[in-house]
Amino acid sequence: GAEDMAYETLLVEQHEAVTLVTLNRPKALNALNSQVLAELQMAFAAYEADDSQGCLVLTGSEKAFAAGADIKEMQPQNFADMYGVDKFSGYDALSRSTRKPWIAAVAGYALGGGCELAMMADYIIAAETAKFGQPEVTLGIAPGMGGSQRLTRAVGKAKAMQMCLTGRMMGAEEAERASLVAQVVLAGKLLEEALNQARTIAGLGPLAVKANKELVNAAFETSLSEGVHFERRIFFGLASTQDKQEGMTAFIEKRKAGWTGK
Ligand code: CAA
Repeated sequence: GAEDMAYETLLVEQHEAVTLVTLNRPKALNALNSQVLAELQMAFAAYEADDSQGCLVLTGSEKAFAAGADIKEMQPQNFADMYGVDKFSGYDALSRSTRKPWIAAVAGYALGGGCELAMMADYIIAAETAKFGQPEVTLGIAPGMGGSQRLTRAVGKAKAMQMCLTGRMMGAEEAERASLVAQVVLAGKLLEEALNQARTIAGLGPLAVKANKELVNAAFETSLSEGVHFERRIFFGLASTQDKQEGMTAFIEKRKAGWTGK
């Protein structure tokens, strides 16, 4: 559609209230170069600004979600080249760029920056073919897009340390057991399942969805007592929304709620 015109490394489609973004650099296994980042920022900004869109799914190909930051782009870059532009800081911005939910649907390789990008999602659904890893150490470097921090928070020290020190990949089943991914599905069902869940989320009240996302994310930044306090304040705030009135009334009247986002 018309919304694809601006993108060379992504495919962006709207499926009713769900935005589907597909990484599309097949010859480089979706390696994340600066153009991909710039286009992801555009696609996420468009999603955030479009009130008709309630959830986003980010996916790659059958073979690779993304095989990492672009090694050919980084090979000639030194400290000054990277520090000077704060390389990868755009991914911090991307991870904060939408208060609406998004899901990473991962098949095949999610390595280095690919794993790190997937971990920026609100949650990951993996095909049974998914392979996660932080192989930077094998290139003489270390993760640079949050992997050492997000992987450790997701799977704990033992597996994160082992993966970062050896560069080994973690398959989908292990990733689910280790809580890196929310769910593993048959490879042929990955997109259908991700879009179904996205449609479910997009069909809920947008204020409540934003609040739930904000609250779970707060658990990674606050103490338990502050987090619980914050949760209760948000909970009380939601009591004054029309959607809370509608949601509870619809439950009592045994009918489907009609959300207004008010
Ligand atoms: N950057 C640039 N190009 C890449 C790439 C990457 N991360 N990963 C794969 N490619 C390219 C290959 O160079 C190759 O291109 P050519 O055809 O021009 O040679 C093409 O994609 C296909 O790749 P392979 O031939 O290697 O495919 P394979 O099936 O034999 O192997 C693979 C697949 C195991 C994923 C292998 O490609 C691989 O190990 N890729 C690199 C993984 C990696 O080290 N990622 C971390 C990058 S560093 C990083 O991400 C830093 C950070 O934290 C931000």
